[in-house]
Amino acid sequence: MPADRITVPFTVAAPGRVNLIGEHVDYNDGFVLPMAIERHVRLRVRPRPDRRVLLRTGRSPETVTLDLAAPLEPRRRHWSNYIAGVIEGCRRAGLDPPGFEADVEATLPAGGGLSSSAALEVATATAIEALCGRELGPERKALLCQAAEHEFAGVPCGIMDQFAVCFAMPGHALCLDCRARSIVPVPLGQGLRVLVINSGVKHSLADGAYATRRAECSEAAGRLGVASLRDLVPADLDAAARLLPPNLLARARHVVGEIARVPAFVAALAAGDRGAAGDLLAESHRSLALDYAVSCPELDLLVDLAAGVPGIIGCRMTGGGFGGCVVALVEEDGAVEAARALVAAYRDARGIDGEWFLTAAAAGPAVTVD
Ligand code: GLA
Repeated sequence: MPADRITVPFTVAAPGRVNLIGEHVDYNDGFVLPMAIERHVRLRVRPRPDRRVLLRTGRSPETVTLDLAAPLEPRRRHWSNYIAGVIEGCRRAGLDPPGFEADVEATLPAGGGLSSSAALEVATATAIEALCGRELGPERKALLCQAAEHEFAGVPCGIMDQFAVCFAMPGHALCLDCRARSIVPVPLGQGLRVLVINSGVKHSLADGAYATRRAECSEAAGRLGVASLRDLVPADLDAAARLLPPNLLARARHVVGEIARVPAFVAALAAGDRGAAGDLLAESHRSLALDYAVSCPELDLLVDLAAGVPGIIGCRMTGGGFGGCVVALVEEDGAVEAARALVAAYRDARGIDGEWFLTAAAAGPAVTVD
């Protein structure tokens, strides 16, 4: 990041992320293991001499104009909220950007559970750093982007996505302790690739269910007298069974089990124990489907089919759920054949062509002067 303000046209690219394991536990202070992927949101930015921001995306014909002379307000369910929210957050943090034009482009599917919104937020914050010639630092930037998502997009997300994008490290997943906000880089291991397949569906339950799950987790923690479900270990669940109604017990069982699975998965990767790593991915999916109830028939089908494909070590839904993508750990040798076999089996069973790609762990946001 240059120390001087950039006054000429430039491009910012910010990656999406896939979460290997540790799902729906970031807002329970747990451990997560995301990595940035080789799919990006790009902002092509041109500074303007006035106080106006003009935004365009290939996905919609309109040009959105924001007036920096006044405080920005959220618009109802509008893609520009991610950008407007970050501009407001940056202004609160003391960065006063000039006007600019930005074209939004993406190689990342929107709504696929690969954090296209976090990528857009972080790309915007990085563009504002460049326009102002000041760096926020990755943690402050990630928290500001998360706040934009809460306040302008109305999604009460955890910290995983924005941290995964801001702290991304090539070749590594990030073991993020969401309570301490500390990160341990985890090398992916020799001979392994990460496969992402989009189920091609997004069920409408997704929006409200996320907030409901968050509320259920805080209610369970409250009834058990702990600050968050992170304070429990699997052995505490017997006692919890006497204090919680069945649905809250199931939510707690997922969270407590999933938090324990993350360090176990990291240890399995370090030991090169592919069988154990694959079993943990399968347990994670089962727990998300049965106890947390955030999967859907298409994701379950992909995971079932993956279990029969040679070279696939393990597979699970990734991200918020109710559609979107699965992530699979695959043997590098024959990875393309394994991906094709799984996609073909899914097409035969459902008639859906699942978009897929193999990815290495990618780098974080980058600015290039055009
Ligand atoms: C979404 C949220 C994240 C996280 C995941 C589920 O991606 O933005 O904060 O809660 O769902 O793990």
